[in-house]
Amino acid sequence: MLQGRRILLIVSGGIAAYKALDLVRRLRERGASVRCVLTEGGAQFVTPLSLAALSEDKVYTELFSLTDESEMGHIRLSREADLLVVAPASADILAKMAAGLAGDIAATALLATDKPVMIVPAMNVRMWEHAATRANIATLEKRGVLRVGPVSGDMACGEYGEGRMAEVPDIVAAILKFFATPMPDRPLAGRRALVTSGPTREPIDPVRFIANHSSGKQGHAIAEALSRLGAETILVSGPVTLPDPPGLSAVHVESARDMLRACEQALPVDVAVCAAAVADWRVKDAKDQKIKKKNGKSPSLTLVENPDILKTLSTAAGNRRPSLVVGFAAETENIVKNATEKRRRKGCDWLLANDVSPASGTFGGDSNRLHLIREDGVEDWPKMSKADAATRLAQQVADHFRDLPFRPAGKGA
Ligand code: CTP
Repeated sequence: MLQGRRILLIVSGGIAAYKALDLVRRLRERGASVRCVLTEGGAQFVTPLSLAALSEDKVYTELFSLTDESEMGHIRLSREADLLVVAPASADILAKMAAGLAGDIAATALLATDKPVMIVPAMNVRMWEHAATRANIATLEKRGVLRVGPVSGDMACGEYGEGRMAEVPDIVAAILKFFATPMPDRPLAGRRALVTSGPTREPIDPVRFIANHSSGKQGHAIAEALSRLGAETILVSGPVTLPDPPGLSAVHVESARDMLRACEQALPVDVAVCAAAVADWRVKDAKDQKIKKKNGKSPSLTLVENPDILKTLSTAAGNRRPSLVVGFAAETENIVKNATEKRRRKGCDWLLANDVSPASGTFGGDSNRLHLIREDGVEDWPKMSKADAATRLAQQVADHFRDLPFRPAGKGA
């Protein structure tokens, strides 16, 4: 349920730092990617090597490291995450956060981030109860920082009281809850989205294939926009040169049949957006060996129809999950009329029609002029960038789900 989520885990000093190791494992088990920052204090209790081994990523320990800065500046580090978790959060780092200090990489990342922050305090009971810590916590909570624990119990120092770090399952539960809670800027939190993108490749033989001009720009932008609004997003993409957008899980496929299989594996979802330019046909009996020239005789290819992914998702019997299916219509003439008929034929709820004639520059270009076709009418969108069109669609998807009850969307539900 944390598939594709990116967590920046900041481990500060304290005996409870050992629990951070288990936390990394539990978060990764659920599909999250975890990148770690280790403070000087934290490094007294756990080693960068153990965090690196468990996170399978580089561990950041120094603010002024040339190598780290050239690979990933500390500002980027603080922004390329969906959530920052400080566990354990010592009294020292809480004070730095409250005061806005930026003397080390952990404090700098926390000051520079534009993402939500969760703290998991761990310290001696007297330190926790001290007026300075109380004031720091109040300041941080007023700023919207989320908190898990601390809990009461025996302390490593021999005292008893509140200050023990929350247990790992409770931290994981708080993180799961965070990702499932809709907030004003994450209205799709708790919803699952599936997006197809790019072309498909239909093999002729091991070295040749049939494909099309789709760049995947629009589909990828839609997946990114849905994920930005909080949806747990699975992007199923044919071969494109674009990188996987951040914060989602990407499945790479080649043929239409592979794409359908990957989509079916991603179900159930709340919304599916089919933006891929799926090849309508594949070559019957694609050859296992390269086809050779034979005395000037050209080979003839027999084509057979591919499965229609959009139609398959739209017309699934029973309790259909995706409950909202959005298709695209690539048209070169009579755009709205053809697309209106196409929406009925395919059985999808919404259809975005676009002009893909060579003069429109849609294929491979950065902008799109779309018409949103629904049962109750057509909305003409002005020409806009593919990124803006994606944001507009994602917002309309969020509006659609705003008042609809949640149904369990986990796999197998
Ligand atoms: N689509 C699909 N699977 C296919 C073909 C198309 O999922 N095998 C989806 C596309 O992702 C898009 C929609 O169907 O959302 C319409 O694609 P388009 O190429 O415009 O329509 P076609 O079904 O190919 O119809 P035609 O070529 O006759 O216009």
